[in-house]
Amino acid sequence: MSKTIIISNRLPIKVQRKEEGLAYETSEGGLATGLGSIYKEGDNVWIGWPGLSFEDEEEEKQVVQDLKQQSMHPVFLTESEIKEFYEGFSNETLWPSFHYFSQYTVYDDAYWAAYQHVNQKFCQAVMELAQPGDTIWVHDYQLLLLPAYIREAFPDSSIGFFQHIPFPSYEVFRMLPWREQILKGMLGADLIGFHTYDDARHFLSSVSRIAGMNTAQGLIDNGHRQIMVDAFPMGIDYTKYAQLAGSPEMKEKLIPYHEVLHDQKVILSIDRLDYSKGIPARLQAFELLLQEYPEFREKVTLFMLVVPSRDQVEKYKELKETIDELVGRINSSYRTITWNPIQYFYRSFPIEELSALYTVADIALITPMRDGMNLVCKEFIASKLDQKGVLILSEMAGASKELSEAIIINPNDLGQMVQAMREAMIMPEEEQQTRMQHMQEVLKRYDIHQWVSIFMNRLEYIKLKQLSLA
Ligand code: UDP
Ligand code: G6P
Repeated sequence: MSKTIIISNRLPIKVQRKEEGLAYETSEGGLATGLGSIYKEGDNVWIGWPGLSFEDEEEEKQVVQDLKQQSMHPVFLTESEIKEFYEGFSNETLWPSFHYFSQYTVYDDAYWAAYQHVNQKFCQAVMELAQPGDTIWVHDYQLLLLPAYIREAFPDSSIGFFQHIPFPSYEVFRMLPWREQILKGMLGADLIGFHTYDDARHFLSSVSRIAGMNTAQGLIDNGHRQIMVDAFPMGIDYTKYAQLAGSPEMKEKLIPYHEVLHDQKVILSIDRLDYSKGIPARLQAFELLLQEYPEFREKVTLFMLVVPSRDQVEKYKELKETIDELVGRINSSYRTITWNPIQYFYRSFPIEELSALYTVADIALITPMRDGMNLVCKEFIASKLDQKGVLILSEMAGASKELSEAIIINPNDLGQMVQAMREAMIMPEEEQQTRMQHMQEVLKRYDIHQWVSIFMNRLEYIKLKQLSLA
């Protein structure tokens, strides 16, 4: 029976080393949480890095066995591969560049060599597991060369590629010295998907200007095959979040929150620690709200969850310090004996706790400088069973294209963010419900299952089209 092989740098489960031995935890990040609910169908398998380097072969064997039971296959990275491929080329070159933080981009040939090498390593893993007729689905910016490597090994295979982060405009992408090799790597796929039409358009423009290929109507002709490029805005497992919010355990989980908060409003902010998420500007806007509208003091608390991420990368370390300082300053300036303006958590939370926070929050404040999609805002909406709550969303997040009933802001405009918070604080319930209902309908209709099935149908379609043209 044919299967789907999913390949991403990070597996949906990460291995942790604890005193009592190896432990398995759920990974954070939209790719892992989004696809985590659907990959275990049939004989499907997920290939990826388990997030740790191991001491010996015995330990690795153990991990292979443990993960196999959950339909996963690990690709192990050495310390130096983690440094140069993962922290280096993936997160100091591609991540900043694709999120329009070009001033943070590191251009380093050793990183590039490691990137090629690790993409080859992933290709080896695919070659070990793939059978004729399997569908291969490669994910995200860490594996941009993999589609072409797989194509070389299996010329007739069916390869989909989906990028979870933005694709920058040609003017930004062209700055990468390895731009042509990167495009050719991606073009090993038959179908290339992005979250938004703008990303797809930027990619097509780079293909035509850098690789000189014809790109009419989202179809690329590379001289051998037609390759399709399209937008597939990723959805969430809507039912899962709605059910969690309505579960009998939820009532009890909410008791401590109500005890602490009384009639205060809660603004919620959840992100990985990442400069693309706009956390410092968000804090500044919150401070301005307290400064300019003293009537909100002691009436609102910002719950800010920051999930540790890529903490060996310099820019991430610096960001952590900036956030710690800002939170400390705001809390010490405005706190009272009974009120702390910001409840700041620097750790990850299990989904049940996130669900409680989504349920309890009056306002979700999601203000990335750039974000491929942003699933957190979608999870917030799915959790609002009484349809009360307001979403403030950055126009720079892919999700803003679908969620037009949110209060849409420009994250560089602090004044606008302050006004958005104020509007959200006083928005009549009826208006909240009308907006929420509209957004819920959109997300319910286009959930993660739909997303997978539409992507797979398009892949089948383009393969048939290629055959008919051959
Ligand atoms: N998340 C999590 N644990 C946490 C905080 C967040 O698993 O403590 C999840 C969250 O539910 C969401 C994902 O991490 O599904 C973040 O995805 P998003 O698309 O918003 O941003 P990304 O991290 O992928 O840039
Ligand atoms: C984003 C990326 C994913 C990545 C995740 C977590 O969602 O699109 O590819 O896995 O962040 O980042 P990490 O570096 O911890 O894998």
